[in-house]
Amino acid sequence: MNNIRNFCIIAHIDHGKSTLADRFLEITGTVEKRNMRAQYLDQLDLERERGITIKMAPVRMEYSGYILNLIDTPGHSDFGYEVSRALAAVEGGILLVDATQGIQAQTLANFRSAKASGLTVLGAINKIDLFKNPEDRETISRLQKEVAELVGSTEDEVFLVSGKTGEGVMELLDEVIRRVPAPEGPHRLFEKNTSTEDSGFSKMNGGGRALIFDSFYDDHKGVMASVRVFDGEINPEQNVYLAAPDTVSKIKEVGYFKPQIRASKNLKTGEIGYIATGIKDTSLIKIGDTAISAAHHPDKIKSFILPGYKEPRPVVFVSFYPEENDDYELLKKSLEKLKLNDSALTIEPDQNEVLGRGYKVGFLGRLHFEITAERLKREYKVETVSTFPSVIYKIKTNREWLTIIKPEELPMEYEEIWEPIVKIAVLVPPKYLQSVYPLQARFRFTDITTETFQDQTEIRAMMPLAELVSDFDDQLKSATAGFASFSYEIADYAKADIVKTDILVAGDVVPGLSRFLPRNTVEKEARRMVEKLKETLPRQQFAQPIQARVNGKFIAREDIPAVKKQLGNFGKNGGDRTRKMKLWAKQKKGKERLQSRAQVRITPAIFKELIKK
Ligand code: GTP
Repeated sequence: MNNIRNFCIIAHIDHGKSTLADRFLEITGTVEKRNMRAQYLDQLDLERERGITIKMAPVRMEYSGYILNLIDTPGHSDFGYEVSRALAAVEGGILLVDATQGIQAQTLANFRSAKASGLTVLGAINKIDLFKNPEDRETISRLQKEVAELVGSTEDEVFLVSGKTGEGVMELLDEVIRRVPAPEGPHRLFEKNTSTEDSGFSKMNGGGRALIFDSFYDDHKGVMASVRVFDGEINPEQNVYLAAPDTVSKIKEVGYFKPQIRASKNLKTGEIGYIATGIKDTSLIKIGDTAISAAHHPDKIKSFILPGYKEPRPVVFVSFYPEENDDYELLKKSLEKLKLNDSALTIEPDQNEVLGRGYKVGFLGRLHFEITAERLKREYKVETVSTFPSVIYKIKTNREWLTIIKPEELPMEYEEIWEPIVKIAVLVPPKYLQSVYPLQARFRFTDITTETFQDQTEIRAMMPLAELVSDFDDQLKSATAGFASFSYEIADYAKADIVKTDILVAGDVVPGLSRFLPRNTVEKEARRMVEKLKETLPRQQFAQPIQARVNGKFIAREDIPAVKKQLGNFGKNGGDRTRKMKLWAKQKKGKERLQSRAQVRITPAIFKELIKK
């Protein structure tokens, strides 16, 4: 165990985590130079293209007689719970700060969770290749001071590296070996959670105990659990007990990430690797769960469950419908495939009068939704129509509390609507502080407090989750030229002053366009919606009124004029009269059919336009 180091890289999005990992892979000879490509551990095309890591593969590297396991922490707050589980699996972290950006909100949020998990954190400043002029020295040493202050080290202990050129990277890796502690038993996990007893697992014969920090699906081997072994030894002769679903299965294989999976004889205390669980049903493998192996039926071991497990909870819901009804099966299969590697997704059949059969999908947040929607389109070639993202509302009626997701489910009579609230932290450089103030009212911030963090301001507030998943991210970025950043966590429920707004096209409520909106901005927003719909909806063969309705009252209206008819060319003399009559009759029938249902095709592009503030 003394020659193992388990660590992660903690950073704000785009600060260069994947690129630094590439250099580690090269230096340690884990990936041969001729096979190297940028952001090697980002496996999805989408990740490489957008340069955003959704999931970086874990990797086991061998270097200077040490085994170095690097695992990923997805930087975005949507994945806060997964970050916390990844942090629980390692002893150390590199806090990587982009020299061109400085410390940003997720640098802080992830650093704080790393400290809370008891990790040893090394500070490093990245992209140093861009600061080679003598006048840059001051900027860098100021940032070095800030990072040192944050991690609690001296300034010289903050590394200056370039993931691009490789400068300083080897020294950083040497420091990981020196400073990150060798793997320890699970006591670090238990300390925070004294209610759970860790009663001498190591005395058990021949088994092992591990924390599942990720899961994925292998076409040949089925459901795989990425694990950190905390005690004992796990090998393929054993059975594995999964605590959360209370299931036992015969292990098929165990192994390491090199970074491709490579079978091994066993996984020992302190090691990171995978267990091919032999389980077919992906929903049984849960992030944060405990896997316990034993030679015999793993019976009396429920008392050894590692603390910290939470059922992944989707908080944002969007319904997807195939643009072509025939694609329903394709949509279904594609979502099921996506779910294989993304245990946080929930999918459930859904139905919409206009859009037909589809699926209601639950996400961890807005980014999670956007990525999934894009993957459906790109990797699975399913064109879909989707509804507004919704959250889980609690409705108080005179008799009971109801939980609803779709505004359509709101009962006629109710007393109060309660909505989920997040705790948000926005980090703003002084120059942009003024530009952030208007957003506070617009996105319904409450309980605002501010604090100075070095030379920046940290604004903390409560904010409805529904506002966060509208376009807060984009608005904050554009107001501050990308310099302000935020992190959030789900907090609680609060009574909301919101009303249900329906959108009607040609007199019919368009299911999926109904929304809850704050009472004081509903008129403005309703107006914007109908205007936007007028612009974006294609003209039909008949004129269509677009209306917005709140509590039975129409509050906005626009009309889409009919398309000018093109009857076709019947020649100078009017052509053949019977042919013309036939065509008219056919068009009339078509028109009736069209009019019988609101022909609203809201593509994801239109949808994205519509949800912008
Ligand atoms: P997420 O996975 O989205 O959090 O991003 P990341 O932290 O993995 O960042 P990534 O490695 O994708 O790098 C972000 C951008 O910065 C890319 O365009 C990189 O090419 C660039 N970059 C990374 N490291 C360096 C560096 O040391 N110097 C320079 N000049 N650019 C770098």
